[in-house]
Amino acid sequence: MTVSGSGAKEAAGSALVAGSGWEYAPAPESREIVSIASEYGLFVDGRFGPASKGRTFATINPATEEPLAKVAMAGPADVDRAVAAARRAFDQVWGSMPGAERAKYLYRIARILQERSREFAVLESIDNGKPIKETRDVDIPLAAAHFFYYAGWADKLGYAGFGPNPQPLGVAGQVIPWNFPLLMAAWKLAPALAAGNTCVLKPAETTPLSALLLAEVCQQAELPPGVVNVLTGAGDTGAALVAHPGISKVAFTGSTEVGIAIAQAMAGTGKKLTLELGGKAANVVFDDAPIEQAIEGIVNGIFFNQGHVCCAGSRLLVQESVADHVVDRLKQRLTTLRLGDPLDKNTDIGAINSRPQLDKITELSAAGEAEGAQRWSPPCELPGKGFWFAPTVFTGVSQSHRIAREEIFGPVLSVLTFRTPEEAVTKANNTPYGLSAGVWTEKGSRILWMAQKMRGGGGGANTYNRLDPASRFGGYRESGFGRGGGRHGLGAYLDV
Ligand code: NAI
Ligand code: MG
Repeated sequence: MTVSGSGAKEAAGSALVAGSGWEYAPAPESREIVSIASEYGLFVDGRFGPASKGRTFATINPATEEPLAKVAMAGPADVDRAVAAARRAFDQVWGSMPGAERAKYLYRIARILQERSREFAVLESIDNGKPIKETRDVDIPLAAAHFFYYAGWADKLGYAGFGPNPQPLGVAGQVIPWNFPLLMAAWKLAPALAAGNTCVLKPAETTPLSALLLAEVCQQAELPPGVVNVLTGAGDTGAALVAHPGISKVAFTGSTEVGIAIAQAMAGTGKKLTLELGGKAANVVFDDAPIEQAIEGIVNGIFFNQGHVCCAGSRLLVQESVADHVVDRLKQRLTTLRLGDPLDKNTDIGAINSRPQLDKITELSAAGEAEGAQRWSPPCELPGKGFWFAPTVFTGVSQSHRIAREEIFGPVLSVLTFRTPEEAVTKANNTPYGLSAGVWTEKGSRILWMAQKMRGGGGGANTYNRLDPASRFGGYRESGFGRGGGRHGLGAYLDV
């Protein structure tokens, strides 16, 4: 972020603040490492081709609003074709292939992802708006890690705790969001393929390019045609896919609203369903916590990936006795974050993914002010073009405020306070969601006590937003049901 001197110094008191007196030189990653085609087709039965009606949509770079490519928009006839290809591949090749053979393909995909990681990192940053630092260090390595991890399970399904010979379900229809495009694709595809299913994947309309490059990787790995199909398009395409009678399993990650619509559409069909939806996680800081570490955890919890994270620590619950100190230190830390060009290796905060998402963040933040919370952002110049939102902290938030209840899915933190551990638990659980949580304290016994009381599918103790293919992930209540990751993630794709 370009920090203008006096404001930053004021916010920081007498502390030395990086950025207030000096600036990093630009360190842009090269765009040339990836070639973006002007048009992309659907990936069906091992080949790229246009949508049957010839319809297309544009994907843009949200940091500049520059159009990147025209992408095929799949309609019902394309869904039919893709599901038929996936069914054929399941019946004739993949479903009956020995697990040790399937594993070889998954290892191959994982290795190619590593080899081409720089290309993927740049492409993901351009299409999504997230900083290259994150795509390079998180999204792409974790996507490869998911393929490696599940490749290891493919020949050991009989030892996964689902009986001696668990069977795949058939064709999986998978609809994913835009916040971690490649990682979500890997998260969905790797366990499904390891378990012996074939897949039709529908990436989000604002971020289709990395899934299409992954389709190219499937070709490069000589994955049999039809095992993975990628249908680009918007909500209509997703709706046609999940409603298709030829699929046996639906996996969806996205908004609670669409998750509910999918659950209703699928009721009574007998298809297996997992939903990974929104969240409003509490990050709870006790007075005995290592405060400087907690500050890093709070920043990582809500400002990582511009806050476009379903398990983001969007509600900071801080013990009253240390609240002023924590908020002061947090504000000082935020003045050092750099917002700007996502391809610059020094950038901490990139662009908001889309205009509608920016509008939603803007609207909810305005509601925070109107309802009486105090709004603060570090001095921060926003680029003139593209979709941007300064890191924002609300203090004086009460539980009834919309910014304490609704998922903002942006770089906006709501700070609430508590006095006793019981009050912390009551407030943490006072949400329709239940996806994740964080606890910061020196006491191990308190961590275990909190872990038992808080309603969430996962969480971190003295850490936040750590993701690993071996650990399970999922929610309660309006955060959805079913578990991804680890051994549990296999169960979602087996007939158990
Ligand atoms: P969305 O739920 O509409 O989109 C997610 C995916 O579902 C996209 O691929 C979309 O094309 C597809 N989709 C949309 N309507 C569908 C339908 N009727 N049937 C099947 N597929 C459908 O989410 P959107 O509009 O992009 O974001 C809205 C809000 O949702 C965000 O502000 C955020 O609060 C939340 N969200 C949560 C995510 C998470 O990881 N839990 C991810 C993305 C959004
Ligand atoms: Mg885009």
